Formats: sequence, C-alpha cells, structure tokens
Amino acid sequence: MPGMIDGHIHASQYAYVGTGSDLPLLDWLQEYTFPAEMKYEALTYATDYYTRVVRQTLKNGTTTAAYFATIHTDASLELCRIADSIGQRVFVGKVNMDTPLHETYKETTEESLQETKRFLKELESRKYQLVKPIITPRFALSTTRDLLKGLGDLAKRYDVAVQTHIQENHEEVRAVMQHFPEYETYTAIYDDNGLLTNQTFLAHGIYLSDDELEVVKKRGSSIIHCPNSNLSIFSGLLDVRNLLDKNVKVCLGTDVAGGYSVSILDAIRRALHVSNTLRISRGESYRVITYKDAFRLATLDGARALGLGDEIGNFEVGKSFDALIVDVGATGSHIQYDSETPTKELVEKFIFCGDDRNISSVYVNGRNLSEETLAK
Ligand code: GUN
Ligand code: ZN
Repeated sequence: MPGMIDGHIHASQYAYVGTGSDLPLLDWLQEYTFPAEMKYEALTYATDYYTRVVRQTLKNGTTTAAYFATIHTDASLELCRIADSIGQRVFVGKVNMDTPLHETYKETTEESLQETKRFLKELESRKYQLVKPIITPRFALSTTRDLLKGLGDLAKRYDVAVQTHIQENHEEVRAVMQHFPEYETYTAIYDDNGLLTNQTFLAHGIYLSDDELEVVKKRGSSIIHCPNSNLSIFSGLLDVRNLLDKNVKVCLGTDVAGGYSVSILDAIRRALHVSNTLRISRGESYRVITYKDAFRLATLDGARALGLGDEIGNFEVGKSFDALIVDVGATGSHIQYDSETPTKELVEKFIFCGDDRNISSVYVNGRNLSEETLAK
C-alpha cells in the first residue's frame, strides 16, 4: 500500500509521549511541553531523540511527516540531517515564539527572524533531496504581529510552506483573541500577515466558523486533523465530514505528544471514532466518514493537502515509490484471516487491527529502508 502521511507531529515531544494527558492545552504546554522542548538546546539530546522519532514513525508506516522541532536552530538542522540520512520525506520547522508565554523558553523577535533565515539558508545549501524547510510560528499566542509579518515575508521570499496551530481549544481561542484585539477572527491574524497560502498546514481547526473555512479554502490552505490529541487533551471533536463537503483540503496528524501514538493507523481509527461520536450525538442523518475515507486522508488526500499530490499518495505512473509492504500473517499479528478472505477485507483488517509488526518493508522514493531502519 502507499506510504502514510503524518501532516502534524512534534518531533521534539516524542521524548514524553505517553504522559501528560491530564491537562488541557494551555496548562499542558506549561507543565509538560515547554520544559521538554527546552532540553533540545543540547545537541546530543536532540540527536538521540530525533533519531528515535524518525525510526519509529517510519517503522509505523509514516513515509512523509511534517515535523515541528523546537526554537533551537542547530537542533532543528540536526533533525533535517537525521531524516535525510535515514531517508524519510519530511518538512522540518524551527519553531518561532517571541511572546512571554514562558520565562525562558522564548526568543526575541529579531532572534526568531534571524535564526529562521539561518535555518532556511543552511538547509538550502545542504541540498537534501527529501527534506523541506517549513516556516513554523507555534500559534498566534506565541507570536507578536511583527514576528508573524516577518515570517509571512520569509515564506513568500523563500517560497516555502507554513505550519501552525489554529482554533484548537476554547480557552486558547479566547486568549488569542485577547492577544490580538485588532482582529475579528483567528484566521484573519494569519491571513493578514501573509501566512495563509496554498502551502499552509493548519493543525486542528476544530472551531473554525463557516466564514473562516471559506477563507482557508480560498487561500488553498489545509487542515490537519489530529484526533488522538483532540481527545487526549480535551480539545474537541473536529467535523471532518463538513470539511470534505466544503472541499477543504484535509490530512491526518498524530500531533505527538498531544496525541500519544506515533502511528497514523491510530489517527485513522481515532478519526473514525470521532466521526462516529458525532453521529451518536447529532443523530442518524449525520454522514460518518468510512474507513476508506480515513485511509485516503492518510494517503492521497494527505499528499494533496501537503502539496505533494503530484509526487506521492498512490501508485499512479510517474509518482515516487513511497510504499509499505504489509504482511498480514506476520508473527504476533492480530489480523485473523484464511485463504478465502478477500484482499479488500485484508486491507480493512490491517487498518483496524494492524500495527508495525505487519509492516515488513518501507520504501521512500524507491529506496527500501527496511534493513537499515526497521531492524533497529
Ligand atoms: N498549540 C501551541 N503549541 C502546541 C503544541 O505543542 N501542541 C498542540 N497540540 N497545540 C499547540
Ligand atoms: Zn501540534
């Protein structure tokens, strides 16, 4: 099957995955996230954990990932080096934050812009084939208007993608609108500063109004649905059916470590459960998404949402070969089948009951990574 796509994952948060799901977003950031991200000032620490996250995501079938790193430029470049050397297709963003959200984990506006420029230039000079830089203002609350404007200008000048968070949690939205009283909507904050482009990936977007969705669609930006995170840290239920009906581009994301699983198969399952939950609460006329819809979000739709629709997502002639060899009968597998089981059912069973044990080979851009990566 085609390799899967994780449109939103914090590589730097993998170190504390599986803990910290007892607090809502803003408290969770203070208590767990910022202290964890500060550790990446030490390059040896970054090398260790970034190697682990690239290996584990690949092992679980993620051939393409859009990563948030931390504010540290050299550690972010280290993530780029590791992804290139192991062979994952990635976007990597050095995170930008210039507001006093945290006492020490922050930058000045000037530093943030200068370091982002250094990151872009250095990455350009390294000419990694599958590694792209991405401008990464953390979210509106972590940025001043000057920083957003400067980053919008850089995105345009260097023609690079943008990723951030939007409309994730009620308390966050209230704080953001207090931080930017001059704007009417969360979307307008990014739009007015040149950050909503056809290469912008917006994580969550749970509470976007119809008018905001119209703007997102017009700009060609995409929404990254992170159901594990949205459930784990109490953010909310995203109505993906509504986005698909409105023709807004959508990809799935693990949002590690708001989400506690590194696996996109998990994101597929959570997305289905969120959709089913909406039907339970809204009534039978609500049209749930099916496992086929969710599988497409993790592959072809995801590729399109990240601007890679011509390169990956399925096995159309001319695309790069990003693929998984799935072994339904692997040792320890939970997949039950016999010689009569139709292939379509095997796919369905893999989606619901499969795990990394069933992924016997991983190809990215035609290169078989299994021996170097999966064995470790
Ligand atoms: N909003 C701002 N930063 C973060 C983060 O690290 N994770 C999530 N889920 N939301 C955020
Ligand atoms: Zn996130």
